[in-house]
Amino acid sequence: MHRPVVRPDRGGPGAGHGVAAAGVARCGRAFRGARGAGDPAPQGRPADDRAPARRGRSTVIGPAHPGGSYRPQAELGGVPAEVRRLEIQAELSWAHEWRVVRDTAPAVAGAVLDAGCGTGAVTRRLRTELADPRTRLVGLDADERLLAVARAEAPAAGIDYVAGDLTEPPLPARSFDLVLARYVFQHLADPVGAARALAALLRPGGTLAVIDVDAGLWGCADPDLSALCADAYRALGTAQAADGGDRLVARRLPRILRRAGLTEVGVRPFAYTGDEVGGAAALAPQLSPERLLPLVERGALGLGTYARAMAAWERFVAADGFTLILGFAVVGRVPVP
Ligand SMILES: C[S@@+](CC[C@H](N)C(=O)[O-])C[C@H]1O[C@@H](n2cnc3c(N)ncnc32)[C@H](O)[C@@H]1O
Repeated sequence: MHRPVVRPDRGGPGAGHGVAAAGVARCGRAFRGARGAGDPAPQGRPADDRAPARRGRSTVIGPAHPGGSYRPQAELGGVPAEVRRLEIQAELSWAHEWRVVRDTAPAVAGAVLDAGCGTGAVTRRLRTELADPRTRLVGLDADERLLAVARAEAPAAGIDYVAGDLTEPPLPARSFDLVLARYVFQHLADPVGAARALAALLRPGGTLAVIDVDAGLWGCADPDLSALCADAYRALGTAQAADGGDRLVARRLPRILRRAGLTEVGVRPFAYTGDEVGGAAALAPQLSPERLLPLVERGALGLGTYARAMAAWERFVAADGFTLILGFAVVGRVPVP
């Protein structure tokens, strides 16, 4: 399987995007490189961000999205870069995430849903990690472009991919033992409603496990990055919030899950260092501020602020900087009557 080196979506100052450090001098080139078919118009909403097509009860994506802040076509490099980014993100952090949620998976047969599965980068890994190969595994996503990649990557891997909006899932109630939602809730305008909809898919005693970012608790770096990049990444948070998303969602998840009726809600943090995944060079995709270039282009981030963030990143790389990356899984169970 193709495993390209791309850009993970995590809570770091980079919080999930950017390629190699390039400096402000490369801005123009990066803009040109990032703009292709289906990529954002210079101002406002992306050109292909149309109202989604409807199929039955579920909102399914033609080229656009049902709402919320997930718009891969608006990111640097567009959808193809996002496909690569999701793969490397899974490669970098899924093992650490799985370590803290694996006990919630059914030991014998059962059924697991990867809600907002995207390209199936984690769904495929789940297939090999679930203890019992008879366990039914379903991936649900609203974006047909990403689902097409998922289906092509694992045509006979024992995974059912379903198109649909997870807030109105086209799946039977009370039919899963575990529902996983990884880096999805940060994009949802109504996270409590989404958690309720996902909880309804669980059998009594089943678990909803949500893994997501908190941009305020992303980790730390030496030399320091966060102070120098804070203004730049605040612009990213503001832009995501304007689209209904929330880059501080991890700290809100315990209350979100409780309001959705889940019990035994618990936070399970996980951590890993840059050294474990290949050092500063390997983290370039994750931490470089280059992902913010589309914001500069849209006028949502000043060039000077971007330049300061990029200079801090370049100093970090030159110093072979150290990072500790933090992440959060929040789990809750459907009560047994
Ligand atoms: C950052 S990607 C994460 C993909 C995947 N969970 C992973 O970890 O590789 C967010 C995913 O959530 C999906 N998504 C966002 N809102 C959704 C919704 N309302 N219904 C279904 N999928 C949604 C997007 O289409 C996208 O595939």
